Amino acid sequence: MLLSPFAWSQKRADMSSGRVACRRFAGPGTYVGKMSPVRVAHVTDLHVGRMTPFAIQREAQNLVNAQNPDVVLVTGDFVCHSQLYLDQLTHLMEGFHAPVLAVLGNHDYWAGAEEVCQALRRAGVEILRNQHTTLTVRGQAIQIVGLDDAYTGHARLDRAVAGLRRDVPTLALSHIPEEADLLWAHGIPLVLSGHTHGGQITLARLHEITLGKIGGHKYLHGLYGSRQGNDNAGAVYVGAGIGSAVMPLRIGDRGKREVTIFELGMRPGHFDEHHAEQRALPGRAVSPRKLARRMAKVARKRERRANRRTIEMPSLP
Ligand SMILES: [Fe+2]
Repeated sequence: MLLSPFAWSQKRADMSSGRVACRRFAGPGTYVGKMSPVRVAHVTDLHVGRMTPFAIQREAQNLVNAQNPDVVLVTGDFVCHSQLYLDQLTHLMEGFHAPVLAVLGNHDYWAGAEEVCQALRRAGVEILRNQHTTLTVRGQAIQIVGLDDAYTGHARLDRAVAGLRRDVPTLALSHIPEEADLLWAHGIPLVLSGHTHGGQITLARLHEITLGKIGGHKYLHGLYGSRQGNDNAGAVYVGAGIGSAVMPLRIGDRGKREVTIFELGMRPGHFDEHHAEQRALPGRAVSPRKLARRMAKVARKRERRANRRTIEMPSLP
């Protein structure tokens, strides 16, 4: 059952738990009046593994389930440096009450994309790797486009949007937020993403230096662009994520662990939102050389895993 905006504001204090914020935004303005309300939950960067206590991922999941979303969309980085916690990942992903669709992130490629996909499929998660699918939610069709991880060079936009219908409400998922610029040009007014963890430490706007100036990101945390979807422009939401992969610290409002609810069919401005649409930072494009280095890193890690498996195999008589 959908909560009315009034019910939301009354219950707002209960909707964020101690360690995980629950934020709520309206969907694209272009869908207002063209569809009945649909509630989408967005989660990203779960990073199940040694650096994030499993209780935190469970806490995030409980927050999502408490919102009764129609669908849960996850934008990559399920693991943290290894395949040791894949059973735990499966166990976690089985616990969402709504259907789950997802794309992969750079950590999934570093740890082993095929193995991560197997763990997710065991839990019933639909993984979109440069493809799109159509869901029927509350009797209406919604297209979900999944762009594979651009950080490690696996994004293939043409394949992801091939055959996409412009007359059906559509959302896109991309681990890397800057890919939204290209997805908007295909008539997709809202892209959900992750990767930045919101900078994790956002006191004194530190994330604008670490992610923006040093990292070259245009989109750091939250909502950017416009949800009106005019002239092939659009919006992107960068979730702060749940887990960590480098350091476990999260300090500051924007770096807080987060699940995000999008009310499709509701007009932006219809209820209070955590923040307004923001303007992009200048950003810096990734050079072909840098991208080649990232792709080589994935290949190197895959080879190392294969070599380890060969050594571990018992020798035949
Ligand atoms: Fe991540």
